[in-house]
Amino acid sequence: MSELAFQRCIDPKCGGTADLSDTSFRCPKCGGLLDVAYDWNRLPVPKTLKHFEAKWSNRTDPLDFSGVWRFRELFPFAPDDRIMTIGEGQTLCQRADGVAGYVGLKPGSLYLQYEGMNPSGSFKDNGMTAAFTHARTVGARRAACASTGNTSASLAIYCAATGLMRAVIFIGSGKISYGKLSQALEHAALTVQIAGDFDDALRRVQEVSRQLGIYLVNSVNPFRLEGQKSIMFRILEALRWEVPDWIVVPGGNLGNVSSFGKAFAELTDLGLIDRAPRLAVVNAAGANTFHQLFERHGLRWNAGQFDRPKYDAYLTAMDAGNLRADTLASAIEINRPVNLPKALRALDRCGGVVREVTDTEILDAKARVGAGGLGCEPASAASVAGLRRLVTEGVIAPSDRVVCVLTGHVLKDPDATVAYHSSDPKTFEEKLGKRGVKRVAFANRAVQVPNDLNEIIKAIELYA
Ligand code: F0G
Repeated sequence: MSELAFQRCIDPKCGGTADLSDTSFRCPKCGGLLDVAYDWNRLPVPKTLKHFEAKWSNRTDPLDFSGVWRFRELFPFAPDDRIMTIGEGQTLCQRADGVAGYVGLKPGSLYLQYEGMNPSGSFKDNGMTAAFTHARTVGARRAACASTGNTSASLAIYCAATGLMRAVIFIGSGKISYGKLSQALEHAALTVQIAGDFDDALRRVQEVSRQLGIYLVNSVNPFRLEGQKSIMFRILEALRWEVPDWIVVPGGNLGNVSSFGKAFAELTDLGLIDRAPRLAVVNAAGANTFHQLFERHGLRWNAGQFDRPKYDAYLTAMDAGNLRADTLASAIEINRPVNLPKALRALDRCGGVVREVTDTEILDAKARVGAGGLGCEPASAASVAGLRRLVTEGVIAPSDRVVCVLTGHVLKDPDATVAYHSSDPKTFEEKLGKRGVKRVAFANRAVQVPNDLNEIIKAIELYA
């Protein structure tokens, strides 16, 4: 292959390749997942990561302003004049001592990478700008995704802001929070509600995209994962290029962990860092396929020869038992993570672990994150809840340096937040109790007072 960038099968034994312009996102030889691969020897790779600091002085250039594209030498698949950016990636890696106390880490040990600051309010924009750029290079006019809400919000925004493509969105009916649904509708996406869940919608959107030649932006699209690598580059940048001990991330379709693993493998291979951090993926207990397969059934990457029959048997048994994903963390309510093989590779490379946490743990962790000053949606707080478990188990030490990725903004799912803090037993029962949450530990109840100045003053003096 003489191209500087191309697509390559993730199975090293298969060795299948595809042209950069191929949009089937399946290995032409074996049907497996593809990576975007580069001939690094023939590309201008920076000598040190400090190189990227110079970009700050050039922030009037939109590509250097973007928190994704200022690292473009580390995913050089598109010429500068084809790149589509809407200013994504201006995110924050904040030291969070209050939350550190909650999870059992020492002050100064925990950082929260707040991806809610992206234009559409979630980490998805990091990948969408990359997929969108690729879509533009192949001349796509329509782009589609199945989504639990954030991918669709992101796609809708990129289509609306650039006017280059029409967004076609598949969602499971009743499976998307209002914040996210409102974004798809407001940004003029064609929104198709399927009688089914995310797993059903993802199957259908792949069929439909193939049949109608619509560009697919779900995370089977390897270009999306190239953009998501920048979340890790920004973390390193915020930590002055020091590698943390752990990165903790919620796991849904497993695109993030796959992307992070690839980022660290490439940085290590290029000699830009001397070790990779360990990766922890956190599933919701109601959508725990990855946890089950990795921790209970011992499924491993095994140099690309992972035990496929074991994986297939697990999915078949799940279907036979009609087991459907069920969690209040609707963003990660997924039973068939499409990137599972890539996630196995990431954990192999980075010495990773997987944990599952209950919805109660997720909501409590979310409240602690909120009280610490950064608001996130339930799925994002799974990372913090999982970290707490890992510290309790002694897998992560109190002095380890840890970064949790907060994947989405608190306003994505206000229903969950209000139900958690509500003093109305009916609201609690309807939204949380019915879904298995028995109690909440950190509810901040609204104070009810009559419309009377003295009573109001009394209440404030009592509580504040
Ligand atoms: N956190 C949030 C807020 C998400 O929206 C998602 C995925 C994840 C975590 C999981 O990330 O798939 O890379 O493991 N949301 C997708 C969507 C599925 O359609 O918006 P992953």
